Amino acid sequence: MDSPLLEPYRGPALQLPNRAAMAPMTRARADDATGVPTPIMTEYYAQRAAAGLIVSEGIWPHRLGKGGPGVPGLTEPAHVEGWRRTTRAVHASGGRIFAQLWHVGRVSHPDILGGEQPVAPSAAAISHGQIFTASGLKDYVVPHELSTAEVAEAVESHAAAARNAVDAGFDGVEINGAYGYLIAQFLSDSANLRTDGYSDHVRFAIEVVEAVAAAIGADRTGLRISPDNPLHDIVESAPGPRYHRLLGALDGMSLAYLHVVQSGTYAALEDLRPRWNGTLVATYDGPEPGSREQAETALRTGLADIYAFGRLFLANPDLPRRIAAGAPLNAMRETGMYGGDAEGYVDYPCLSG
Ligand SMILES: Cc1cc2nc3c(=O)[nH]c(=O)nc-3n(C[C@H](O)[C@H](O)[C@H](O)COP(=O)(O)O)c2cc1C
Repeated sequence: MDSPLLEPYRGPALQLPNRAAMAPMTRARADDATGVPTPIMTEYYAQRAAAGLIVSEGIWPHRLGKGGPGVPGLTEPAHVEGWRRTTRAVHASGGRIFAQLWHVGRVSHPDILGGEQPVAPSAAAISHGQIFTASGLKDYVVPHELSTAEVAEAVESHAAAARNAVDAGFDGVEINGAYGYLIAQFLSDSANLRTDGYSDHVRFAIEVVEAVAAAIGADRTGLRISPDNPLHDIVESAPGPRYHRLLGALDGMSLAYLHVVQSGTYAALEDLRPRWNGTLVATYDGPEPGSREQAETALRTGLADIYAFGRLFLANPDLPRRIAAGAPLNAMRETGMYGGDAEGYVDYPCLSG
């Protein structure tokens, strides 16, 4: 069946056989004590190698960046060795995979961080909701406000993890600046109450992107943002001007891509696409999984060059083939979404034949 999702993408940095990417999804199956990826994770990603591009689950670039049990890391040689198994398997199956670097900042807990306090731009706790730890749901704690020197260390940790990602065989990295985690905390009014140079909301994001691009090349560096997304108590007054400024600083850098999650009331894709000359990956986030129709419209209208599906790829390892065949899609089950074993993880069927 004809679909723009099945057309190859030939960008300055990325060459992909199709435009249906797999969005980053935390599945919490790494060894919790060490953050080392487990063999079943290799099987999961290799099953999805038909994606134009796989973006891995969020991976912590710093020991204090971990946001939950079973989330993998990319700071130690053992992490690099573990991820190498996965990148080899994805490449052997004909795929491409970027590592998502995910520092959660204040969206963590001492129970997740071996007793250490989470860090953030300011000592402002999340007041809504609770965080999942190995011993159940806990209230958020007041985070430690990063000193200016500690901010520099946080920036550098992204560059070091990016080098590890390339060492582990990833084709590039996506920096997670979305969903209220550390970079989005700096971008916000509610979590960034600083009075030093980082009171400029976009500065930390720009420094992280520059450091990663300097470490592994701009052509292997992507950035994910979710303007106006309120998750984790994030408030961004006037997201438009804020993100215009961010894009203004990054547009000339020839990054691999900008990944825009559209979810709030602000029409991020419509507003930002004309301000971004590089490759744009889009994801719509709402109660229902982003659909084939939404993706095709975004591609046809030029709002996006590539579309990243989350939940549809979770439940359909062979999503591009199903799109090509016009075949029905597996429904996602709630079982095994975060943590657990093979169930709900590597047991979704592919089309036969
Ligand atoms: C199980 C699950 C885990 C997720 N983990 C991450 C993550 O680690 N990093 C991230 O940027 N987004 C994460 N997301 C958000 C997805 O990448 C995507 O933006 C969202 O699911 C909307 O796309 P969809 O409607 O196609 O699922 C996650 C989503 C799901 C369902």
